[in-house]
Amino acid sequence: MKTFIIAAMTADGYIAKDAQHSPFNWTSKADKKRFIETTKKAGVIVVGSSTYKTFPGALKERLNIVYSRSQSFDGAETTQDEPAELLKKLEARGFKEVAICGGEAIYTMFMKAKVVDRLYLTVEPIIFGKGVKLFNDDMLFHLKLVSSAESSSGALLLEYTVDYSGNPKTQTH
Ligand SMILES: NC(=O)c1ccc[n+]([C@@H]2O[C@H](COP(=O)([O-])OP(=O)(O)OC[C@H]3O[C@@H](n4cnc5c(N)ncnc54)[C@H](OP(=O)(O)O)[C@@H]3O)[C@@H](O)[C@H]2O)c1
Repeated sequence: MKTFIIAAMTADGYIAKDAQHSPFNWTSKADKKRFIETTKKAGVIVVGSSTYKTFPGALKERLNIVYSRSQSFDGAETTQDEPAELLKKLEARGFKEVAICGGEAIYTMFMKAKVVDRLYLTVEPIIFGKGVKLFNDDMLFHLKLVSSAESSSGALLLEYTVDYSGNPKTQTH
């Protein structure tokens, strides 16, 4: 199972101003295009309930999985599984790739579980000063830059792999 994080962030490392703030209003066309293409290719997206509530509804042509301890959502499956457990179940259902689409709580949980292979990060030319960060807990991972591109609006589209040498990845099969 290949697992990636996909996120748009400000130049000062924030993914939103607060838990209700949708990225759709401040991210570039290039980021939206990459988000749609990359998540459709994976076929399954995983989000926290706060992020799902910022969506107009379930994202089409993708299985929507929402982390929640207390709520259920139209058009989505709900889970409370540990990350490795969820990935094993998805692999058993035939999925080969999973898109972890935030927010901060879910990015942090998957990164700390050591199951993330790749990060697609878009750095938008904007500053929030404070807000919701990409991650919110202590961690140390080394990354390898795979590709970088600049959009016409000045967004940086970065792709990294996680270097697990000396820090083995959790097996999910
Ligand atoms: N810029 C970007 O690319 C990007 C991407 C995604 C999200 N965002 C932004 O990030 C913000 C939301 O981030 P967030 O960290 O506040 O919320 P979040 O990660 O979207 O959702 C948090 C919720 O997930 C559920 N949850 C978390 N851990 C769980 C577990 N182990 N088991 C079961 N449920 C669990 C809980 O839901 P319940 O309370 O329902 O139990 C929790 O309240 C929004 O503003 C959103 O727009 C930005």
